[in-house]
Amino acid sequence: MANLCVNIDHIATLRQARQETEPDPVVAAAIVEQAGAAGITVHLREDRRHIQDRDVEQLRRVVATKLNLEMAATDEMVKIASRLKPEESTLVPEKREELTTEGGLDAAGQKSRLRLVCQKLKDAGIVVSLFIDPEERQIAAAAEIGADYIELHTGEYARAKGAEPELRTLHIAAQTAQDKGLKVNAGHGLNYTNVGAVARIKGVEDLNIGHNIIARAALVGLDQAVREMLAAIAQAGV
Ligand code: PXP
Repeated sequence: MANLCVNIDHIATLRQARQETEPDPVVAAAIVEQAGAAGITVHLREDRRHIQDRDVEQLRRVVATKLNLEMAATDEMVKIASRLKPEESTLVPEKREELTTEGGLDAAGQKSRLRLVCQKLKDAGIVVSLFIDPEERQIAAAAEIGADYIELHTGEYARAKGAEPELRTLHIAAQTAQDKGLKVNAGHGLNYTNVGAVARIKGVEDLNIGHNIIARAALVGLDQAVREMLAAIAQAGV
């Protein structure tokens, strides 16, 4: 069965809206883990719009499952990751104006730079994942770069309301990646209804899900929101 890793960025978004101390992502992480999730994911953005450096430092100390740090492939972020040593770093593209990560990383267009970043992170003992679109050339580039994992961008599939062609594209991409020796995660835009089909894709390990869980948590509580997502994944029956 695929693992659920919960992206708790929007707990920090709520806190930053008032520049207050609550809600605390560290408390959220404990609740998420207690509810049965397999990991905690946070994105430390260049503009620090939600998660702050201090959050990552504290999370590094308290997360007992697995900490996945989403980050841009910049020198600043490589330095922070190398010091804090999350179990996994997921390299993502980052634009200041975007509301959320738009599109996958252009791995094919920056192979030499990403090879260097990937090696530095691996030297620090961090598992490296590249968040990419489900395209053959990006997958091939991820393998050449030496990434351990790819995270398949499921945004198109989610936008297409789980339509067959987009789902088929994800199946093909997951198989292509595994044929090239890459391990596979997936995420973006996943919700309680579209998650099952992605959880069933052969070889998909971690599902990184944020917005939909935190949105539901605002109404029913974080513990229940996580448990409902775990149930939706379990229902997929693999
Ligand atoms: N995976 C990556 C690489 C992301 O950047 C995000 C958004 O921060 C997610 C997964 C989670 O996406 P969503 O918030 O739509 O569930």
